[in-house]
Order: sequence, then structure tokens, then C-alpha cells
Amino acid sequence: MPEPLIAPPQPAGPVVEISKLWTVFSSPERRSVVHENLDLTVQQGEVLSLVGGSGTGKTVLLRQILGLETPTKGEIKVLGQSVSELGRKGAASRIGMLFQHGALFSAFSVLENISFPLRELKTLTPTLVREAAMVKLQMVGLKPEDAYKMPSDLSGGMIKRVALARALIMDPPLLLLDEPTAGLDPDSSDGFVTLLRSLHRDLELTVIMVTHDLDTLFELSTRIAVLADRRVVIADAPKEVIAHHHPFILDFFLGPRGQRAMELLREYPFAI
Ligand SMILES: Nc1ncnc2c1ncn2[C@@H]1O[C@H](COP(=O)(O)OP(=O)(O)O)[C@@H](O)[C@H]1O
Ligand SMILES: [Mg+2]
Repeated sequence: MPEPLIAPPQPAGPVVEISKLWTVFSSPERRSVVHENLDLTVQQGEVLSLVGGSGTGKTVLLRQILGLETPTKGEIKVLGQSVSELGRKGAASRIGMLFQHGALFSAFSVLENISFPLRELKTLTPTLVREAAMVKLQMVGLKPEDAYKMPSDLSGGMIKRVALARALIMDPPLLLLDEPTAGLDPDSSDGFVTLLRSLHRDLELTVIMVTHDLDTLFELSTRIAVLADRRVVIADAPKEVIAHHHPFILDFFLGPRGQRAMELLREYPFAI
């Protein structure tokens, strides 16, 4: 029987539940422990931002939630179901992912890129697939005439929007964003943050986002989780996280960029 296109109603309880997770990469030369007994729970409707130094395993964690990589030990549940049992199709109907570099297929048009996951399912007619992709194209603020452009004709901001439309094509309740505004100029970045905020509200999404960008962080996060010492050292409201004593937090929020962070907190009081 084909998989239903619409994700089943969400059970009460957390959208993502990560418990006692270990990630160990071993090679003959060295053994590297990336996550050690990491716990993290994300509730329905949150925008949880994941921050941490480079190489602390943020991207690996997103890929594990999506089921693209398997943790060495521990469990990840999405909507109450273990990721290892969901399978690729089960994960695809529940989770949308915006990869760090957009990752569009360069030989496909905008519309073909957006509709790719639906076409792979092979359950809808080409006309329905096309209509669904056109709806998502407009949802991310692109114009119908952009549908037949090729990725090489797009600006950085448009590539992100196409990748976002593709991530949302199956109407997933959970959206994962890896550095959504990295590499965008300030105007495109602001526009993308505004779009993310309205989609989060209108589609009642739960969002997990990796970002280094303080503007993005404070504009969107309901909670911030700090990945350091191979685990989540704190996951709390922005003002609690900033007040938490940890060398990474001091450096990230209160180092040279700290002044700016404090200005942002005053600018966006909802983050407090
Ligand atoms: N498949 C892999 N094999 C070996 N090491 C890996 C693999 N994937 C990631 N790593 C290592 O795991 C660490 C975390 O990577 P990553 O999640 O990409 O970090 P970041 O927090 O910057 O996103 C890095 O040291 C990286 O080199
Ligand atoms: Mg990364």
C-alpha cells in the first residue's frame, strides 16, 4: 500500500525526543567522540536553535534526526516513533530539511527541484504534482514565472527559497534548517527570516535550526540549545542561556559580539 501523503495526526508529547545519544567516529588512526550521552527534547510549535562551535556535531545531529545517519548508541524519536523504524518514506512525510548549501539539482528547473520528493513517491499524477509544487513556490515568495528557471539563474536568496519549498512539499510538521541564512547578504537574510517566521506561524511548524547568526537566532528562537562538551549543556529561553556560565556561551554571546547581542535582545523583547 502506498504511504499516505499527509502525516498522521500528531500524538500528544514531544515532536523530537533524543535520549542518551552517542556518536563515535572510528578510524584505524583515531577514535573521535562527537556526542556523549546527549539529551534533547523539542515540543510542538517551538523554534529551537542549536548553537555550538564548528565541528561539535550540529549537522550530524540533524542528519541523525532525519535518519540519514545512525547514532552509535541512544535513541531518537520523532512524533513518538523511533527514527530507525520510520524508514525513508516515513521520515520524508514528517520531516523537511533545508540543507546548508541549498543542495538543488543543477540540471533540474525550479519546479522540478521543488516537486522532486513528490515525483519520487509516484503516487500522484504529473498534473497534481505540478500544482502542489506551484503552491509551494508561491508560499515561499517566488513568482510563477520563476518555475522554469534553472538553479544557475537564481540569486542566493532564491536558491534558499526553492530549497525551502522542496523541504515543505510533503507538508511535514517538523522542519530542520542548517544555517538557513549563512552566505546571504543582509537584505536577503532579513527577508528569509521574515518568511521563516510567517511559515512557522501559518503552518504551525516545529523547527530545529542550526545557526551562527545572532540576528537570525534572536528573531526566531523560542529556545536555544547549546552543544558543547559533546552534549547539550543548556536548552532554555534566550535570556536564560545568555546568563548561563559556560566558556562557549561567554565567547559566543558576550565576547566581541556580546554588545550586539544585548542590543538585539532589547530590539526583540519577545526573545526575552
Ligand atoms: N562520516 C563521518 N566520518 C567521520 N567523521 C565525521 C563524519 N561526519 C562528521 N564527522 C566529524 O564529526 C564532527 C562533527 O561534524 P558536523 O556535525 O559537520 O559539525 P558542525 O557542528 O560544524 O555542523 C566533525 O569533527 C566531523 O569531521
Ligand atoms: Mg554544520
